[in-house]
Amino acid sequence: MRIDPWASTQFADYTRLREEFGISPFSPDKLSNPHKLLRRGVVFGQRGFELIEDAILSNKPWVILTGLVPSGRMHIGHKMVIDQVIYYQSLGADIFLAVADIEALGARGLSLKESERYAIDEYIVNYIALGLRDERCQIYFQSKRVEVKDLGYILARKVNLSDMRAIYGFDDSTNMTHVLSPLIQVGDILHVQLEKYGGARPTLVPVGVDQDPHIRLTRDIVSAHRLYNVTETKDGKIGVFVKVNENVNELLDRAENVLKNLGYTVLKKIPNYKALYILGAVKSDIAKIDEYLIPVELEYDGYTFYSPSSTYHRFMTGLTGGKMSSSQPDSSIFLTDAPQEAARKIRNCKTGGRVSLEEQRKFGGEPGQCTVYELFLYHLIERDEELDYIYESCKSGERMCGDCKKFAIQLMEKFLSDLRERRDEARERIKDYIRDD
Ligand code: TRP
Ligand code: SF4
Repeated sequence: MRIDPWASTQFADYTRLREEFGISPFSPDKLSNPHKLLRRGVVFGQRGFELIEDAILSNKPWVILTGLVPSGRMHIGHKMVIDQVIYYQSLGADIFLAVADIEALGARGLSLKESERYAIDEYIVNYIALGLRDERCQIYFQSKRVEVKDLGYILARKVNLSDMRAIYGFDDSTNMTHVLSPLIQVGDILHVQLEKYGGARPTLVPVGVDQDPHIRLTRDIVSAHRLYNVTETKDGKIGVFVKVNENVNELLDRAENVLKNLGYTVLKKIPNYKALYILGAVKSDIAKIDEYLIPVELEYDGYTFYSPSSTYHRFMTGLTGGKMSSSQPDSSIFLTDAPQEAARKIRNCKTGGRVSLEEQRKFGGEPGQCTVYELFLYHLIERDEELDYIYESCKSGERMCGDCKKFAIQLMEKFLSDLRERRDEARERIKDYIRDD
């Protein structure tokens, strides 16, 4: 099985996906006032999220980087990422948003000019209207940021063509801009740790699970560039190994110091093996030890980064029952849809209702199969008790689809018309968000 980031596949079984790709379960338990998408299991997986929890709980700097492909209109499926970004902004994260115009060119054939228009009119204006603030927040275009492209090229030294084929299924006819676009995305994710953009710090990339291949690629590239490797040996010892051939003794001494400061007293250094064994350390100490070695590495002029953490959200079902896609306008609601237009789409959407009112009363509906219920869960209902009530009253047969849709329509119309008003003010503030350097 392979995840194709450009295929807009519908995934049926998220637990299986997690197991197959070694994605860890996500829990928001350590976060304060978690956003509804985090509370309700829409965000279902993560890699390396402990680093972010730790930064939040101990008030250390951390940063969010995510991106958008400006190749069409923004719909409620695209809204999920920015909802999370806005929540994390409230917890104190620095925010960077990449406009993936090079990806749109390589993978979708849009010109940079067309992308710019979609980015501004469809995405950025809505982001601001939805509540993204401009402090410690910047939006940039891939094509305009040299550091992003440079890192893409430079770090690509540790990837070869067969890796790219294996991850993405590229073949002989794939155009080279498309082949390069994941490497530019690696540049997006890691450039926020350059001195100029705030320095090395834990980085969270909240995305749809279709983006996991890019995250794996980035994390592999980061470990390939590390000078130290902290790992458990075959005989169960924890060791720090120097991966390079320069400054070996110095690096071992520095590691020894770091470990002493962390409270490990029995250390065994074997320079011939470029190794430092830590007696009394256990497997679960590895991440912490590794993190404390990063500042040492940063003093050497290599490319050391914190491995990016990620979270993955599931995708909404299209209103018509298949996948949600901008190319099928009735499958989704665009943020710029007129309220009456959205109402029409909801009136026609697929529900989990029975064939007749009698059957609905007798057997109850199936909220788990219902796109109206998804609208409530993902977007329209804030209070969990209210959502539970909808679920229960549907299951028990008290709730009828006609009225239920009317309620969803009311909430959606209000949301869209409020948003439209806020967009008018947002337009004047766009320049406060976009950064050209
Ligand atoms: N490829 C992403 C998408 O299809 C967009 C993107 C570009 C991105 N750069 C990024 C996402 C960096 C996360 C991090 O939606
Ligand atoms: Fe869906 Fe509402 Fe009908 Fe239940 S009553 S199936 S939630 S539309």
